[in-house]
Amino acid sequence: MTQNQGYVEVGKVSEISNGQMKHIEINGKEIVIANANGKFYAFDERCGHMNARLSNGNINQNIVVCPFHSAKFDITTGKKVGEPVLEIPPDMEPLPPKWQKYMENVGKEMSYIKTNDLNTYEVTIEGDIIKIKT
Ligand code: FES
Repeated sequence: MTQNQGYVEVGKVSEISNGQMKHIEINGKEIVIANANGKFYAFDERCGHMNARLSNGNINQNIVVCPFHSAKFDITTGKKVGEPVLEIPPDMEPLPPKWQKYMENVGKEMSYIKTNDLNTYEVTIEGDIIKIKT
């Protein structure tokens, strides 16, 4: 990585196709570089809910969906736009009663966890090079 006027080189345009994300680390800070319809965005890697890696989730237009409980964030602003959900897959076998009770408690405790917005970072493109300001 090279640094110039606060911008750090983090990758190439050609290596992140539309709808894809790339995990990077700068001085221990985990950041996602995302390509949404040909525009590049940078935001915190760790979900504002329970720290899952957002680069393992999905991008739909300018919304990233967390792979853990499906919280949604606008990648252009970092704002949370959808709350996390605890869903049991519809085709799953019923849980034993003790597990059902445990999952009820997990769901109740999860409802008290605040989901924070993400930090976003300025992105600039120079030819095929992506740079961000941290
Ligand atoms: S960790 Fe992302 S929604 Fe729970």
